[in-house]
Amino acid sequence: MTAASPRAEIAELLAFYASAGVDDALEDAPINRFAEARPKPAERPRPPAAPVSESRPREQSAARPGFEAGPPPQRSAPGLDASNIPDAPVRMATAAVPDEAQALLARQLAASASTLEELRQHMASFDGCNLKFTAKNLVFADGNPNAALMLVGEAPGRDEDLEGLPFVGRSGRLLDRMLAAIGLDRQSAYIANVIPWRPPGNRTPTPHETEICRPFIERQIELVNPKVLINLGGPSAKTLLNTTEGILRLRGNWRVHTTASGVAIPAMPTLHPAYLLRTPAHKKLAWRDFLEVKAKLRSLGD
Ligand code: URA
Repeated sequence: MTAASPRAEIAELLAFYASAGVDDALEDAPINRFAEARPKPAERPRPPAAPVSESRPREQSAARPGFEAGPPPQRSAPGLDASNIPDAPVRMATAAVPDEAQALLARQLAASASTLEELRQHMASFDGCNLKFTAKNLVFADGNPNAALMLVGEAPGRDEDLEGLPFVGRSGRLLDRMLAAIGLDRQSAYIANVIPWRPPGNRTPTPHETEICRPFIERQIELVNPKVLINLGGPSAKTLLNTTEGILRLRGNWRVHTTASGVAIPAMPTLHPAYLLRTPAHKKLAWRDFLEVKAKLRSLGD
């Protein structure tokens, strides 16, 4: 038996990464972790104590770098590898700031935006959510902000991150067909996500990340002020309708999303297009939900 060629080995490794959901390079240059000559923990200078949230367990704040008060963790410049960075993990942990402070800042920024463009700018300059530092783009919205219908998904995936627009990948193409089925498109609907930055590897956003991003999407809904809201999938429904019920129970039943200023918007939770791609037998349920929405828009004069 001949040894596999380096090319075949690399292809196999890449296939393994892709199947594990690792489909993006975060750094400009590769890091040779084997070359890292780190001092033993006892030899390391101790960092000054970091402020740690009362309400969050310590391990969690240390394990989730990126909630820094200062600038985001530096990406390696070409030619710089981890062996040149003496104590990267310790350096990041010292800057941890309680999540609550970031959530408060997000609420203040969101509330102070009086237009969608201001909100987009505030979100683009907000450094309080660690997802921002692994994402390529802020995915703010697509469609018509004057539309009667607003749809809110969970979080951008790879295609959305690359383009900076929501629902442009496979599930977006299905969403376009679902909208077309009720006579709508991206000129007659407005689309956004609860989380505006792609979670690395498309992992589920943590509850903290969702809480930090929640004020932005709530303000976005308030500024668009649609006549009807569609929650695409469980995370959008749970976050914006204040419920813990599962999406299969929620879907098809009208709920209400109440804005901070007290406006009640009829909301239809339905199945997420990505779920429908995996479970096509349930497309008929989403179809029913979209017909409900069409009837509601008609009854409201649209
Ligand atoms: N899934 C979502 O929830 N949002 C997107 O933008 C894309 C996929």
